[in-house]
Amino acid sequence: MFAKRTADRAGGEPSDDVREERHVPVMVREVCGFLAGSRSDGLLVDGTAGMGGHLAALLDVLPDMRFLALDRDPNAVSVLRERFGDHKRVIVRHASYTSAQSVIEEIGLGRASAALFDLGLSSLQLDDPARGFSHSMDGTLDMRFDPEDGPTALELVNTLPEKELADIIFRFGQEGRSRRIAAAIVNARPVAGSRELADAVSSSVRSGGVKMLSRVFQALRIAVNRELEELDILLDGLASWTETDARIAFITFHSLEDRRVKVLFRDCGSFRQYSPKWLLPGDEEIRENSRARSARLRMGLRT
Ligand SMILES: C[S@@+](CC[C@H](N)C(=O)[O-])C[C@H]1O[C@@H](n2cnc3c(N)ncnc32)[C@H](O)[C@@H]1O
Repeated sequence: MFAKRTADRAGGEPSDDVREERHVPVMVREVCGFLAGSRSDGLLVDGTAGMGGHLAALLDVLPDMRFLALDRDPNAVSVLRERFGDHKRVIVRHASYTSAQSVIEEIGLGRASAALFDLGLSSLQLDDPARGFSHSMDGTLDMRFDPEDGPTALELVNTLPEKELADIIFRFGQEGRSRRIAAAIVNARPVAGSRELADAVSSSVRSGGVKMLSRVFQALRIAVNRELEELDILLDGLASWTETDARIAFITFHSLEDRRVKVLFRDCGSFRQYSPKWLLPGDEEIRENSRARSARLRMGLRT
């Protein structure tokens, strides 16, 4: 599943054993520039450490910082352990970012002086047909970040009442033709996998193409992983495990996430917006990494 090639192990020698990722981290320079201004000998929580791209870069710019790397996906955690397992400044845990406070308490490192949340999914997850995240390849339509946690997308598309399916597509995919699409999915039951789902969705409306498919698949992924509930729990508790002046960075990929983070930094009283409030990737980065095109880096300070 993982491409096997030589990788630069952060803080060590290149190793052939490392299963390096095909995921290119987004806005690394901007993330490092902002988080490098944190208290330098504190704790940085990378709540969505993924393949460790941001983590590797942050280890370089913050040589006295300790790092807690969390991910909900056990495959990502295996990659992180291989990459950073013997690094003395990094602790890796298989956990949702909603458990950050209890993990920090368990390891006894005090409050965090910085945190990063790169929301969404990695290219490695998207490109693996067995995970079912992509509409452009036939897969099992699983879509769970943690394969032990909750029903799959396949179960949702085959069992949810049509109205609930339409609501998910409308709310989480922001797709106006949700009712027609949900009717076509119900009509195509039993749906066997990603290709059948994509065919059913495409047959439901005359135009829409890839963007519509992306919106429907995004909606199902958000529902399967309860992504917005998770984010709300994180935002509610963030002030209780971060120290005064902590720097907090979020990379968001759609307005449903971005709005929540904006409201936290602007209105909640325990944070204030950094200046600038947000940054977008440059044209060159977007040219080189298409995943960056919808990214936005939001920056806030714990007050
Ligand atoms: C965009 S990737 C992060 C990539 C990472 N910054 C890097 O440079 O490799 C997002 C990651 O967040 C993880 N994730 C999603 N929801 C999560 C949650 N609630 N808690 C922890 N990790 C989560 C996904 O499994 C995925 O690995």
